[in-house]
Amino acid sequence: MIKNAIVPVAGLGTRLLPATKSQPKEMLPVAKKPIVQYVVEELAASGVREILFITGRGKSSIENHFDHDPNLLASLNSTSKEELIEELEFEKLKTHFLYTRQSVQRGLGDAILCGEPFVGHDPFTVALGDSIIGLQGQSRICARMSEVYEQHQAAAVIAVEPVSDEQVSLYGVVKPETDGDVFTIGDLVEKPPAGKAPSNLAIVGRYVFAPVIFDMIRHVKPDKRGEIQLTEAIRMLCETGRRVMGVKLAPGEHRYDIGNYQSYFETFIEFALADPQHGPRLRERLKKLLERD
Ligand code: G1P
Repeated sequence: MIKNAIVPVAGLGTRLLPATKSQPKEMLPVAKKPIVQYVVEELAASGVREILFITGRGKSSIENHFDHDPNLLASLNSTSKEELIEELEFEKLKTHFLYTRQSVQRGLGDAILCGEPFVGHDPFTVALGDSIIGLQGQSRICARMSEVYEQHQAAAVIAVEPVSDEQVSLYGVVKPETDGDVFTIGDLVEKPPAGKAPSNLAIVGRYVFAPVIFDMIRHVKPDKRGEIQLTEAIRMLCETGRRVMGVKLAPGEHRYDIGNYQSYFETFIEFALADPQHGPRLRERLKKLLERD
């Protein structure tokens, strides 16, 4: 089981302005919880015990969220709001948090490189802090990827899901060399133009890596926006004959990408409808609103 994870949260979130002007996009709520809490709970359920956040300026509320707050607890206890204490259950996760900053925005590959001293010689998971996998984040994908990593002695394992032809240009896209739900990847392209994608299998923001990925990242040249792309580094793993495996999300393990308002709104509504306490009434209200149209 892989114990270490890197969660990059340094992105500026400009596609979600104005909501992200003074708060990280990873802290936007989806139903009751901030996005990044789903990511952390997913990792903890997969056996991860140490999480390194790669942060940037304006991201300190993430650190505050995962810290114990004795004053809040004391206040809830003293004002007979004990039932609200349940909402802070996640503070008891057996996960240890570390934080480091990517001072200059040089892309996802560069952000991951900031985690090299944390990882040492062990394999590690990368989970993007703005993507939730599975309804309410209930996904076992990272545990499955860690099994595939060991079984295939891979240098990297990448989670993917099929997307429509219009969406391939938004993501990294893999070229499978074998069939099945677990397959060998021969090549990858970051955000291919429509019609040029090697498949419709898009990278969903969950990866397992051997530390050799850091050597590859160091060799990646910045793209035309000055960014060091992680996809390029994985591509180098393929080119140098290392084994790179793909794992498809299981049925029902849809990836919720909170990178733009359309998918943010859709995800919020779906998760709120699934809330056992508030979902049923919200459903009624939505039905009424829709009938009005
Ligand atoms: C990044 C990766 C891309 C991946 C995507 C998943 O892109 O570079 O390969 O498909 O995350 O969300 P970004 O969304 O940061 O532009």
